[in-house]
Amino acid sequence: MNHINLYRPVKIGALEIPGNLFLAPVAGYTDRAFRSICAAWGADFSFTELVSSEALVRTANKGLSRTEQLLVRGDGEKRYGIQLFGSDPLVMARAAALLEDFSPDALDINSGCPVPKVVKSGAGSALVRDPSRLAALVSSVVKVCETRLGGIPVTVKIRSGWDSDSINYRETARAAVEAGASLVSLHGRTRAQGYGGKSDWSHIADLASRLAVPVIGSGDLYTPEDALRMLGQTGCAGVMFARGALGNPFIFSAAKALLTGASYTWPETEVRLKTALRQLELLARDVGESLACREMRKQACAYTRGIAGGRGIRDRIVHAQTIAEYRELLLSSPDSAE
Ligand SMILES: Cc1cc2nc3c(=O)[nH]c(=O)nc-3n(C[C@H](O)[C@H](O)[C@H](O)COP(=O)(O)O)c2cc1C
Repeated sequence: MNHINLYRPVKIGALEIPGNLFLAPVAGYTDRAFRSICAAWGADFSFTELVSSEALVRTANKGLSRTEQLLVRGDGEKRYGIQLFGSDPLVMARAAALLEDFSPDALDINSGCPVPKVVKSGAGSALVRDPSRLAALVSSVVKVCETRLGGIPVTVKIRSGWDSDSINYRETARAAVEAGASLVSLHGRTRAQGYGGKSDWSHIADLASRLAVPVIGSGDLYTPEDALRMLGQTGCAGVMFARGALGNPFIFSAAKALLTGASYTWPETEVRLKTALRQLELLARDVGESLACREMRKQACAYTRGIAGGRGIRDRIVHAQTIAEYRELLLSSPDSAE
């Protein structure tokens, strides 16, 4: 009866976000087409996937590359942040300055990516072992944001630590905030865990109770109920859906309903498959039909999880090469015709 409304605004520096449901950066998925779809289903803020500061600087003035296409604001996307990775404060500053024309609402610094190539370069989760370098990156990007990007906030996304013997999210977060970060997202796994095992939400609760800036929780958010539990148990300011949103952008509206004390129902199969098709059409506008059809396969498969006849659709989607073939497959399934 006495439902506490856990759907709340979040303030990131001077930026006010009306709600606390975030789309996490997910490489290979959170391109502008998917971000647009998530915004339409209620994501309050979304992040691009990680983008290499070195690559941005190297390819500057060579036309809009595929990477840069990922960075353009999506249709209907009211608020979004671009996530950069790198280890050199000067390169990060130059890359940040190049993002002026995209007019993002925030810049995020990746301090969690476990991929060996990224870590070897001193970036991503290597930064949790080197908080002073993270601080140097943050302050150099903050300076550029103040002088060139209208004072937009800088945020960081960190992990709990390098491994279970070196849990140091407090130190990492403190270094980032002292250097000027306006929000910290914490993925409660260590680098050693990769994406397996469990995200330790007690770390999120602990950090949320200590930091003056908002903490956004990440890890193991697969259902609206997970979001409710994380907000209730940890006191974090917001939650960030990652794998839970893939093929399921509807999770945002469902979670919003649940957090505000209302009930929710999942959309009918027809709506789900039409949404997948819409995402493909948006993607095709950016990258052309042929590449969009290839890139969309894994995402379209995710949309068919758990629906009647889903297996059959998935088997055929992997061969689909045109939007017309997708349309035929997605909209003529026995379930979607009802
Ligand atoms: C395929 C994949 C790609 C990811 N790419 C990024 C990324 O580009 N930047 C980032 O900060 N985190 C990235 N993440 C981490 C997610 O943002 C999130 O923190 C993590 O998946 C935990 O949330 P979940 O357990 O709810 O999926 C990625 C995760 C996955 C599974």
